[in-house]
Formats: sequence, structure tokens, C-alpha cells
Amino acid sequence: MTAPVRENLSGVDLRAEIDRLRKDRNAVILAHYYQKPEIQDLADFVGDSLELSRKAAETDADVIAFCGVKFMAETAKILSPEKIVVLPDMDAGCSLEDSCPPEQFKRFREQHPDHIALTYINCSAAVKALSDIIVTSSSAETIISQIPESQKIIFGPDRHLGGYLNRKFGRDMLLWPGVCIVHEAFSETELLKLKAQHPDAPVAAHPECPPHIIDHADYVGSTSGILQFAKSFPGDTLIVATEPHIIHQMEKALPEKKFIGAPGADGNCNCNICPYMALNTMEKLYFALRDLEPRIELDEELRLGAKKSLDRMLEMASGTIGKGDLGARAPA
Ligand code: 13P
Ligand code: SF4
Repeated sequence: MTAPVRENLSGVDLRAEIDRLRKDRNAVILAHYYQKPEIQDLADFVGDSLELSRKAAETDADVIAFCGVKFMAETAKILSPEKIVVLPDMDAGCSLEDSCPPEQFKRFREQHPDHIALTYINCSAAVKALSDIIVTSSSAETIISQIPESQKIIFGPDRHLGGYLNRKFGRDMLLWPGVCIVHEAFSETELLKLKAQHPDAPVAAHPECPPHIIDHADYVGSTSGILQFAKSFPGDTLIVATEPHIIHQMEKALPEKKFIGAPGADGNCNCNICPYMALNTMEKLYFALRDLEPRIELDEELRLGAKKSLDRMLEMASGTIGKGDLGARAPA
């Protein structure tokens, strides 16, 4: 099939054209908090990974235009197979997904047959199919607290989120050695300098941050958790240790408060912009809605395998599975 022609769009009112196409296609635009402000502002829904998964499972639109990264759009397709799911840039990947090739993950599971696999949603559909339960950063604590303490667990691919959960819940999960390159780039030295300049400002951090950043945080949580914290903390300045595009939502909701992105090693927070999320642009979103490409396609057997562990997350995140209802599943 020849690729659709992508002409120069200078002079085109992209916002108006995207609105027209969204209506014509009966499409819903879902966006993660790490997207550029102009994309967040036109999305039908902006949320964290768990909220976006729920929206994708519930929507009655014919098309989901997913402004996020590939594992998120894949999750939408796994949960809503009858829908067309487009991702504006198919190269929008994730360093955590890249760190965890399915063949290696399968071998890791085989080496630990008495462990269940609790897996962060930031992974490929193939790794989801090899897992027992998926978690997001907002559902991980609810889910882990439902797993009996005697149950051995492997946690991948984010060793920082896994380490944080181990410390918080006194668990001893075996950790896959993946990291998020964005959260890994925050500098403790620069953060301490910033804290010294703003001694009353609390620090809110995402659990993908390494422990030397988490140790200085007053609040640790998912993107939506950090946003809630921003809305409720009593002061007027907040230091935000996650991808800085989330600050757009904070500034919109709380224009009277000041939000400062935690710095990277160069003292500037720009090195913490997710390079994968940044690949999506208004132009690419317009083309994706116009051409219904690039489209997420999944082998049905793989989709059903991945859906089991995602369904488990959705059930456990809303507390519909009781304690002790887990058994180790052999890797497929
Ligand atoms: P949440 O939005 O679920 O907190 O995830 C953050 C993230 O890094 C997504 O890639
Ligand atoms: Fe992946 Fe990190 Fe980007 Fe999230 S912020 S998509 S975890 S690289």
C-alpha cells in the first residue's frame, strides 16, 4: 500500500480541521498529561495511564486518536478491538518498553516459576501477554496490597517504581532493570539547590524517579495524583519532579500558584521532556485523523493474551477481586 501524501500544512487552521475530522470520523481524542499543551487543550479527555485505559475501554466512538506513546495506544486497541486506534507518530515509544524484550522477559519468568509477574503498563503487548497482572502508577499500590505477602513476585520493567513499592510495602519483589530516561535525568544536586531557593515549596515526584529524588519528595504519586496534590497543598509554590508538560494543567487550574519543574543535571528542566511523547504534533494528529493511519494492529491471539492481565488490573484497581485470589500462572 502506498503511504498517503502529507502535503505542507502552512496556512491551514489545524485546530478547526482537527475538530471537523473528529466529528466526521466519530473520533475521540485521548491525550496523556505529557503531551504538548496545544494537544492537551483540544483532547476530549486528558489523563494518566489508568484513566486513559478506562476511557479507551468505555468509549462508543468509532476511532480513538491516541496522543501518547505506543504502549498506551496498544492498550486502547487491546481493550477496544473493534475500534480504529491511531497514534500520530508510530515511533513514539518508551525507554521502559525498549528495556524489556519479550523473549528475555519470558526467560526471566521461566527462571522464577514460583513468582507471579506484576508488570507496569509501560511495556509491549507481548510482555503484557507474559504477565499476570498489569499495574499503572496510580493502581500499583491498591493492587499490591491485595496480593498475599507470601506470594513471590517479579516486577518489571521499571526498577524504580518496583523499588519504591518494595520499600513502601516491605516486599521483596524481584526487579527487572529498566528505567524511564526522563525521570532518571533529574539531578539531586540541582533539586537541593532549588529547594534551598524555595524552602517552603513541597516536592511532588513520580515513582518512576530514582530513590535519590524520591527521598526529597513530600508527595509521591502518578501524574493524576500529582495533579490532585497540586490542587490541595496549602502553599503557593510546588516543585514538580515529573515530565514538565503536566505543569500546563496545573497552571490552568491554579493560575495564582507557581509550579517549578525539577531540574536535570544542567539545571534546566528541558532535558526532562519525554522525547517520545514530543513526537506527536498537531500536524501528525491531523494526518492521523484524515488518513486513519498510522493504525495500531494486533494479532488476535496476542491481544487476548495481553487482555487477561489488563482486565485483572481493571478489576483489581476497582477492588472487585478479593485478597488471596491470585495464583502463579506459568508463562505462555
Ligand atoms: P502515569 O500517567 O500513569 O502516572 O504514567 C506516567 C508515565 O510515564 C507514562 O509514560
Ligand atoms: Fe516512557 Fe518515561 Fe516517556 Fe513515560 S516519560 S513514556 S515512562 S520514556
